[in-house]
Amino acid sequence: MAGEKSAPKIVGLTPDRRQSFYGRDIVSVKQFSRDDLTYIFGVADEMRSIVKRVGATDLLKGYVLANLFYEPSTRTSSSFIAAMQRLGGSVIPIHGVQYSSVSKGESLPDTIRTLECYADVIVLRHPEVGASEVAARYASKPVISAGDGVGEHPTQGLLDIYTIYTELGTIDGLHVAMVGDLKNGRTVHSLARLLCLYDTKMTFVSPEILRLPPALKEELIQAGRPIAETARVEDVIETVDVLYVTRVQKERFADLREYEAVKGYYEITPALMERAKERMALMHPLPRVGEIHYDVDDDPRAAYFRQVENGLYIRMALLAAVLGKV
Ligand code: NCD
Repeated sequence: MAGEKSAPKIVGLTPDRRQSFYGRDIVSVKQFSRDDLTYIFGVADEMRSIVKRVGATDLLKGYVLANLFYEPSTRTSSSFIAAMQRLGGSVIPIHGVQYSSVSKGESLPDTIRTLECYADVIVLRHPEVGASEVAARYASKPVISAGDGVGEHPTQGLLDIYTIYTELGTIDGLHVAMVGDLKNGRTVHSLARLLCLYDTKMTFVSPEILRLPPALKEELIQAGRPIAETARVEDVIETVDVLYVTRVQKERFADLREYEAVKGYYEITPALMERAKERMALMHPLPRVGEIHYDVDDDPRAAYFRQVENGLYIRMALLAAVLGKV
């Protein structure tokens, strides 16, 4: 096969790591150790190299993913589809509410028990906190949370911390500031928990009404990491290694007047970025609705579209790992 490109061989999981992933649900980042992350980063690196070199592999040939979304999604939904397809598997895409029997009143357990008759793995996004844990209890196949309301977004947390690692070459020793809707932003909840596995300092930047949930703050303090809170991004811009900006989660507000009062609170502009370190990463889980100006996009520190791309490799790694193929 001289000269022909072939997919690189993927290293096998060690028995411990295999236990962390094979056949397991992914419903919260609390389930991961630092070794698990090191492992999944390594597999994601290999997935990147496969995609760059040959586009796809047949590692999951014959496997089927049910992609069940009860809330809107662009990146999470399409990256899981792309991940499964680039691994040679196929996908049943279901946007739950509108077109499935959910609109006829079918329950989550019945929907899950139906889908696992067809699929080997189920990805679920749902508006209620804990919904993926409920689904996981009913399913004998692995359930991967794609976000449960204001709870967690574990696969986004993994791709975010992987992005920090790929952008800056380390996680230990970094100062990470998270900005925006820290109360309702589930990506923040997952990322902050993952950062506790490393020697990091975190600053939470938000208006008073969008502060981190007290229970989560307590959890981070118990984990022994230094944390600080402020309302002003100017307080951190000169010292941060990572500025993680989030959207104010309009759909979580009962009173839209409250949303209107805080929606434009932070705007990252080229002038603000001039004050930031030369080597740092500006991140956002996207979608953005004004928090980062478009004219910041050409700044080499603007990492949000590389973050999107990393989501593909992390989700390929996770699918292959829960299905026992790496
Ligand atoms: C996030 C989400 O759905 O929680 N988006 C994503 O998955 N990349 C962030 C958001 O909606 O603001």
